[in-house]
Amino acid sequence: MPTRILGIETSCDETAAGVVEDGRTVLSNVIASQSELHAQYGGVFPEMASRAHVQLVYQVIDAALKQAHVALRDIDAIAVTRGPGLVGSLVVGMNAAKGLALGSGLPLLGINHLEGHLYSLWLTSAVRSIKFPVLALIVSGGHTELVLATGHLEYQRLGGTLDDAAGEAFDKVGRLLGMPYPAGAHMERAAQRGNPDAFNFPRAWMDDSWDFSFSGLKTAVARAVKSPALASSAAKTPRPKELPVDDLAASFQAAAIDVLAEKTAQAAEKFKARGILIAGGVSANRLLRSEIEDRAGKVPVYAPPQALCTDNAAMIAAAAHQRLAAGHADDLTMDVLPTWPLAT
Ligand code: KG4
Ligand code: ZN
Repeated sequence: MPTRILGIETSCDETAAGVVEDGRTVLSNVIASQSELHAQYGGVFPEMASRAHVQLVYQVIDAALKQAHVALRDIDAIAVTRGPGLVGSLVVGMNAAKGLALGSGLPLLGINHLEGHLYSLWLTSAVRSIKFPVLALIVSGGHTELVLATGHLEYQRLGGTLDDAAGEAFDKVGRLLGMPYPAGAHMERAAQRGNPDAFNFPRAWMDDSWDFSFSGLKTAVARAVKSPALASSAAKTPRPKELPVDDLAASFQAAAIDVLAEKTAQAAEKFKARGILIAGGVSANRLLRSEIEDRAGKVPVYAPPQALCTDNAAMIAAAAHQRLAAGHADDLTMDVLPTWPLAT
């Protein structure tokens, strides 16, 4: 008999539910994005996010069950994102999951959102033959984590960002350049048209550590945008106030990805990783994928399909499958953990 898990994800600004069979087959993956709601604020407005989750969560769960052609009685466990994330948003998903678990008697599992991003890879067939240890780069709007997985559910954290997350930097720079939130995909498109060598933006190598920093890069772009040199060169164009957006985006992207790709490849070599996994919203970026592949030599590199890069609940169910198989279960007194690290 297949094992079917209902996943629920409300850690940030996506209300999501999905059903996954045996940790690998997505029967449904419903995502109600709130990005339009938050775009007017240029970023996620936490209270609005919680309220939208309250309105959407049961509709989304219902849609996920319907699309999977299953009822709650066909489900074996309920998985929910326990953290990290926005406290008010996490609580909505957690309480919805508890209500369903209480009513149905099904086991309840609280899943780390970052573990979910990692196990989004197991929803693709190529990765299932991967051998440990595996190096994982989790890059999203809230996180930039370099992690060594020594086995299923066993992690050693190597480093992470000391300030802005990689996706956050894409979003903030995109905002400076007049793009809507979330800006990552817009930035990538603009960068494809631009010259990555137009501006020599700084790379924070953070020598002797596996940590990252993107705030200096973001500030450098802000300074370039305001610089008189740029204003005068821009003034030669027919539209005086127009910035060289594509060149700025391409040069920013090149600097951010240079550091991400180089450190990932170096860590893979140092820790003799037998595979590299990239996950999280920024892993949708084609340049990031290709730069890591180019620098990783013979080490195979895996990234999720585009639809599973950004926040979704299928990935939460996929991670829960591993946890359920390992005998994990939580109880109804479980609280959310807004700053829960994947590993220490
Ligand atoms: O994983 P995710 O949906 O949410 C968090 O857990 O934070 O990631 C969203 C982030 C946003 O910052 C978004 O701008 C970024 O991923 N992103 C991208 C691309 N697509 C999404 N960043 C760079 N290039 C992309 N193509
Ligand atoms: Zn995420």
